[in-house]
Amino acid sequence: MALWGGRFAGGSSNMFRQVNDSIGFDQVMATQDMTGSIVWSRALCQAGVLTQAEQTQLEDALHVMIAQAERGELDYLGSGEEDIHSFVEARLTAELGDVARKLHTGRSRNDQVATDFRLWVKDHVVMLRTDIVMFIEQLVTLAQTNINVIMPGYTHLQRAQPVRFAHWALAYVEMLKRDLTRLDDLHERMNQCPLGSGALAGTTYPVDRHAIAQQLGFASPCVNSLDAVSDRDFVLELLFCASTSMMHMSRLAEDLIFYNSGEAQFIKLGDSVTSGSSLMPQKKNPDALELMRGKCGRVFAALQGLLVTMKGLPLAYNKDMQEDKEGAIDAVTQWHICLSIGVEVLASLELDQARCEQAAKQGYANATELADYLVAKGIPFRTAHDLSGQAVVYAITQQKALEELSIAELQEISNVISDDVYPVLQLAYLVDKRNILGGTGMQPVSAAVAAAQVFIAQQKG
Ligand code: ARG
Repeated sequence: MALWGGRFAGGSSNMFRQVNDSIGFDQVMATQDMTGSIVWSRALCQAGVLTQAEQTQLEDALHVMIAQAERGELDYLGSGEEDIHSFVEARLTAELGDVARKLHTGRSRNDQVATDFRLWVKDHVVMLRTDIVMFIEQLVTLAQTNINVIMPGYTHLQRAQPVRFAHWALAYVEMLKRDLTRLDDLHERMNQCPLGSGALAGTTYPVDRHAIAQQLGFASPCVNSLDAVSDRDFVLELLFCASTSMMHMSRLAEDLIFYNSGEAQFIKLGDSVTSGSSLMPQKKNPDALELMRGKCGRVFAALQGLLVTMKGLPLAYNKDMQEDKEGAIDAVTQWHICLSIGVEVLASLELDQARCEQAAKQGYANATELADYLVAKGIPFRTAHDLSGQAVVYAITQQKALEELSIAELQEISNVISDDVYPVLQLAYLVDKRNILGGTGMQPVSAAVAAAQVFIAQQKG
């Protein structure tokens, strides 16, 4: 049943139905549409359009329909309806007759769809917040369990300075915390209700828009009807939130793919999140991580796609805007999937502490410590710097770390060196010297773990 049949003598072509119908995807907003209709029926009742008995009839039927939707009992596609709005109205009409035909008084699908989609986004902000907090929690657990593990930190993918593995994990905690607050910011900005804006100019019925907004869980009503039915900023912002967070997870995935490589072997991934090769029996591929990286493409594309769709659209509603949904629904789904599988990957991950430390040592990051040690023994810094450089060259020829050189070997470099050099050359000594807020020393990293735990408890509480 088309909602607009009266003016038309002929039916739609099949091809038109294919290009126009949105029930295939906007069915995800079924419960939001029904909830919006309940609140609209109350508004109509209060405005004197529906009697209390009629409103109760509608509300009761819509509650039954919500329950059916939640149980997956509704056959959207089989209904032949154009979109979720016509579906709900057609079902109500089949059941209640003329009362249902009063429901759309003063409402347009333009303010209806804007409201439904905002409600859908609001619901998914709640879901994604939970996902992000779980991901953060898993990172913090990983940081805490492995707080003693030191690995190379990289710039240009060259070993630069040793860092705690926990410091690496906590870097992503910071990024994901920002992803979380970005969602909160989006929620605050979009928390206004379009319903009551009509097709574009506002409704003629004296409904209480504040009450409508409040009953639907919005902070307030949208204040301009043209803007209310035309705005899709909230979808764009959601897609930006998704894109940025996916980018963060992609970098995390890339780091872990490298740490898991045969060359690094810092970590092992669990069987549950890896796959084998159909040809090479020895392979164990980091597929989950590669997909966390790979799915960025479609999420970023959804953001670009909608920006291009919206650009140049005249006010107010245009059917182009129906294209706001598929990309956003997919982006939210992929983001949710990636956050969820990310938690499993992190939970399955085992660190090889010895390999991490061996690699960290081979970076000769403690050469500066050796120079400082020589300075403390009275050698001028410039000379000490040269001597330390010679020690590195010698150690490389021996394929050893500086602290693996014997005292006899070190004394060949300078006879002021004695046994007290070894503690200074230890990796942990070097790392723990970065005992400053934001640094990788044990003290600031432990403090960061504790702070992250407080943050998680606040989010959950
Ligand atoms: N399916 C449409 C959408 O998602 C609903 C709004 C239709 N409005 C209209 N004026 N044809 O955008």
